[in-house]
Amino acid sequence: MYDFYSDTKTKPSKEMLEYALGRTFGDEQKDEDPTTLELCERVARLLGKESAVFLPSGTMCNEIAITVQTSPGDEILCDRTCHIINFEGGAPAAMSGVMIHPLDGKHGQFTEEDVSQALRPKSRHMPISRMLCAEQTVNLGGGGVWPVEKLDSVAQVAKKSGLSTHLDGARLLNACAKTGISAARYSHEYDSCWIDFTKGLGAPVGAVLAGSTDFIEAAWRVKQRIGGAMRQSGVIASFCLYALEKNVERLADDHALATKISSSLEHLPGIVNVLPVETNIIIADLAENAPSAAQLVSKLSEESIHIGAFGEKRIRIVTHLDVNPKAAECLIEALSNHLGSILS
Ligand SMILES: Cc1ncc(COP(=O)(O)O)c(C=O)c1O
Repeated sequence: MYDFYSDTKTKPSKEMLEYALGRTFGDEQKDEDPTTLELCERVARLLGKESAVFLPSGTMCNEIAITVQTSPGDEILCDRTCHIINFEGGAPAAMSGVMIHPLDGKHGQFTEEDVSQALRPKSRHMPISRMLCAEQTVNLGGGGVWPVEKLDSVAQVAKKSGLSTHLDGARLLNACAKTGISAARYSHEYDSCWIDFTKGLGAPVGAVLAGSTDFIEAAWRVKQRIGGAMRQSGVIASFCLYALEKNVERLADDHALATKISSSLEHLPGIVNVLPVETNIIIADLAENAPSAAQLVSKLSEESIHIGAFGEKRIRIVTHLDVNPKAAECLIEALSNHLGSILS
């Protein structure tokens, strides 16, 4: 079985599981778990922030950051395609009572002008523009990497108007692997930022949210309130520490494989557009006369090859630790067979 649906599909390796056996654990809620504390310290340093908190998921990082930095009735600005709008169960409205002002960026990246135009003037009739969120890399933008100057500039425009800034770094380390720019540099203009361990880093659970000491204290209060505070969380934090040590450098291999798959895709019948591939995500559009994305996904799954349908004619393929060049060859062959037979 080859699963290209997402980089979240990796299984923990034996080495990762064994690594946990050598660690010590305590009660996380009482700040007594040395392994979790070590992970938080390392991520805070990596992101150039004062402090950090361990959470079960990236979604919880986004949503706690929004809760802490807004009040009900406020408005947050983010790209129309972002995870916060599309895949977090309406949590900004449900948990924080905020409105969202979607920005129409290109492949998930918006401009200073987009932000300026979305900012609300002071008026008792309007919501208050309170927070700007960006994603690095951009998931539905085909894993595209924001140039650091552009990421800085949109945050600076927002900050000038008193907004807080938040960076969804689910795949921030993929951007770092691609450009050699540090995670701290990318998140420099952002008040809160997080990285996920369950994407390219291959851990089964865990994300770490970082920011100022005051921000993390407030984040901890929300974590406690929603039942996210854990006990011997070092067991799972160990997997994240292992991932930081062993699985960061190899992200470049995922990028190389994605580039290879995308060059093959461009030559397949029925594929009309492949978004530029910069990291580990490939997004391609199917021709009018090709089957729908859902039909293609279903056909491939009969051969135990999994990809994603993200729109009527849009497919997504993601590379990660658990797929290799041989899996990629099988994927291309299966795509070629299905698209070729339907279109001939
Ligand atoms: C850009 C982005 N943000 C946030 C998330 C949420 O992360 P998690 O699955 O850890 O909740 C994802 C997950 O795919 C993502 O792609």
